[in-house]
Amino acid sequence: MPDESPFASFDAALRRALAISTDYIAGLPDRPVSYPVTPDDMARALDEPLPETGCAADAAICDWFSRAEPGIVASPGPRFFGLVNGGATPAALAGDWLASALDQNAVMWLSSPAASHTEQAVLRWLKELFRLPASWAGGMTSGATMANLVGLAAGRQWVGGRLGFDPADTGLGGHPPIHVLSSTEIHASARKALAMLGLGRNSVQTVPAPGGAVDTAALAAALAAIDAPVIVVGNAGEVNTGAFDDLGQIAALCRHHAPGVWLHVDGAFGLFAAISPRSRHLVQGIAAADSVASDAHKWLNVPYDSGFAFVRDGEILRQAMSATAAYIAPQDGRWDPHSHVPEFSRRFRALAAWCALKSLGRTGYREIVERCLDNANAFADWVAAEPRLELLGSSRFNIVCFRLAADAPQADLDARNRQAVTDMQADGRAFTTGTQWDGNAAIRAAFDNWATGPEDVAILIQAVKDILLAD
Ligand SMILES: Cc1ncc(COP(=O)(O)O)c(C=O)c1O
Repeated sequence: MPDESPFASFDAALRRALAISTDYIAGLPDRPVSYPVTPDDMARALDEPLPETGCAADAAICDWFSRAEPGIVASPGPRFFGLVNGGATPAALAGDWLASALDQNAVMWLSSPAASHTEQAVLRWLKELFRLPASWAGGMTSGATMANLVGLAAGRQWVGGRLGFDPADTGLGGHPPIHVLSSTEIHASARKALAMLGLGRNSVQTVPAPGGAVDTAALAAALAAIDAPVIVVGNAGEVNTGAFDDLGQIAALCRHHAPGVWLHVDGAFGLFAAISPRSRHLVQGIAAADSVASDAHKWLNVPYDSGFAFVRDGEILRQAMSATAAYIAPQDGRWDPHSHVPEFSRRFRALAAWCALKSLGRTGYREIVERCLDNANAFADWVAAEPRLELLGSSRFNIVCFRLAADAPQADLDARNRQAVTDMQADGRAFTTGTQWDGNAAIRAAFDNWATGPEDVAILIQAVKDILLAD
């Protein structure tokens, strides 16, 4: 028998979680970002038979942390430059904890008027922050993949309507194909969303994006060749280099396509350009889109998982997403989240975002965005000045893509760039991730964390010098 019932004390368990969390957070500026653990190491730490009898809740928490700790990546810390991760602000993290304690089901107004209305308030604040029309509908999602799915589902619904059928009701079988156009740099998650929507991940007709941003003349030609309504996916922030499609020009093209266009914009991190006068021009024209997808767990710096989608026409969105049953009948004037997003029962993720927005306000977010841009620029300037490195892509935003560019066969250079990424991850001072750019191996560093400062950029530079430029 356990010493103490697993149900005995919330207090002890929560205090334990608090103690572990505050130690972890206090250590983030200094701890290695990651340790070189293998799947076998993690299996040895965690794979055991299902416990026959339980233990006290705080003991379970302690036990997990001590076993899994080497596999925890300090991605909320200031020296994680991989993928496109944000950290969590104090208010966001506390709000997220509170959401777990309150354990609201944010499915519908009836199950939590507080959660439903908080989500509406967050969506309104986000539209203000990003200067999007107040009339747009939206919903919070688990991330930008699901936000892309929401926008593209609305697009599919709209195109189906133009072609005389209702995709949400009858499916796609037996109907004309739905055309999707984007650049070669469309994010993998948008393709995944298209796969889930039955449109097919390879259904996208892509046009070139030299430097990362779509060639608008090529897009115009591709659009002109389609005598049918089209979904166009614009990319506001390409994941390797941070490049932006010219949304203003794309929107103008779309307006002139007589059969009609649904313009969806993937702004997973790029939408945040709208917050600063320094970068706002990059998303000029976005208000002409029909749907926009973005992430909160990236640059809003709220904990995983959190994203959001906006759709100009709320009725189309509800047609695409709504589910009806007698026991969940809508009530007049009451906003049901589930009619705007894929899930039914869902976490109260709006609370973390509400607390973060309340605590930082517009000014706080502008400062975060500008600090990240300063950090990215400082690193990009160093890369550009270093003769053995090549700065890739055409953009100067929050992602720096680069590679070793010595006078050596390309295959050797690719191997050295790839090895450098692995070695940097094992080294633990600064975490970057690898990619391919123009067909060759490259390294990328993304800057979205509120806590990253010039001292962290200096550590990143030193790590690149020591590991990539050592000989
Ligand atoms: C441009 C873009 N779109 C979509 C996504 C997918 O976002 P998530 O992982 O939050 O689903 C990402 C992730 O990095 C991204 O950079």
